[in-house]
Amino acid sequence: MNILIVGSGGREHALAWKIAQSDHCKNLYIAPGNAGTGLCGTNVDIDILDIGNLRQFSLENRVDLLVVGPEAPLVEGITDSFRIGDTKHINIIGPSAYAAQLEGSKAFAKKFMQKYNLPTAAYLEISRDNISSGIKFLEELKPPYVLKADGLAAGKGVLILDDLTEAKAQLKDMLDGKFGKASEIVVIEEFLSGIEFSVFALTDGKSYVLLPEAKDYKRIGEGDTGLNTGGMGAISPVPFIDDLLWKKVVQSIVEPTIKGIAAEKMDYTGFVFFGLISVGGEPMVIEYNCRLGDPETEVIIPRIKSDLLQLFRDAVSGNLKDAKMEVDSRSASTVMMVSGGYPGDFDKGKLINGSEKIKSSLIFHGGTKKTGKEIFTNGGRVLAVTTLNDDYRKAVRISLSNADKIHFEGKYYRHDIGFDL
Ligand code: AMP
Ligand code: GLY
Repeated sequence: MNILIVGSGGREHALAWKIAQSDHCKNLYIAPGNAGTGLCGTNVDIDILDIGNLRQFSLENRVDLLVVGPEAPLVEGITDSFRIGDTKHINIIGPSAYAAQLEGSKAFAKKFMQKYNLPTAAYLEISRDNISSGIKFLEELKPPYVLKADGLAAGKGVLILDDLTEAKAQLKDMLDGKFGKASEIVVIEEFLSGIEFSVFALTDGKSYVLLPEAKDYKRIGEGDTGLNTGGMGAISPVPFIDDLLWKKVVQSIVEPTIKGIAAEKMDYTGFVFFGLISVGGEPMVIEYNCRLGDPETEVIIPRIKSDLLQLFRDAVSGNLKDAKMEVDSRSASTVMMVSGGYPGDFDKGKLINGSEKIKSSLIFHGGTKKTGKEIFTNGGRVLAVTTLNDDYRKAVRISLSNADKIHFEGKYYRHDIGFDL
């Protein structure tokens, strides 16, 4: 089968690496890809939002399966576009635009959670028309106050504020366009206190299989301090998830979500990423994403022993009910090496040395680009250094010692991934 993966991060490199190992894989294309995906298949210079050219390319190259990595093309409707006309025979891993609102609209997701009785924070949806209700709701809540832009805001649309006056001012700023169209609607939420983790399912819209779970580290600084990033590292499995917590996750969160997706008749073949928080041992939903996480994918995929393309075949043919997910019992850690200055301004085009010599870790590329024989930085998150080991602490140590052997000007990474476990 011919496969086209859309995206260019460490997530897409990990997917390409795994898919390329399948006997079902004939030709693998990645649009636009990076220096790492270029080792697994053929990079194609088409932007992730250029849906017209992605369709055209798929037709010309007889693509059988489209695998969409990031959320933006899903929310923009890439699946719906492929479902019509001469691309309608192409199978897709990625939900329709309507279903992708589970990630693309916080208000849509909260309504869904309420309708299907999912444990989640109390909330109110506010627009310019009912701002006074928003002020009143904030006054009833205890600090800290959680304000969320309804739409996609490049991971920056959630504010957590200690001060009520500041929260009221920020609510007005958001409705006045602080995050553009994304914050024309704001979701105000009750603050939940606990420890966060992420659970992933592959669904055909009716049944599902669970993937390994993960915990990511979002802040730039050690001890989880400083600015939010796309993710600085991850661990899988998550040591504090015991059988009881897992059972609650499946019964009170995964099952009702998939039932809701089926009841709403959503066109949803793809991944559901459950952003969860354990509040005194009770799992609650913080958010849904309609794709895999990055860098979570870089620890999940290496632990999957099953043939991922076979699972994708089962998903697109509606046969996931009997599918089996075989998982490596070892732990995986990943340490993300980023460009100096990230998540603020940073330079690109720095020569990367030493990554090809690493044998005891897998190196998944994010922002990298090959020019001639050499590889250069091409983004904020550059390389994910993933290690499998029986002991997650040892896995982190090996990832760190390998990150130390890879060089590019301004490189930075956190040394404390897994510190809180
Ligand atoms: P979200 O984009 O909804 O995942 O929010 C980004 C981050 O903000 C989450 O990963 C949490 O760390 C935090 N967060 C979001 N909602 C809440 C909440 N209701 N209570 C506490 N923390 C939250
Ligand atoms: N690492 C978080 C995300 O992919 O959304």
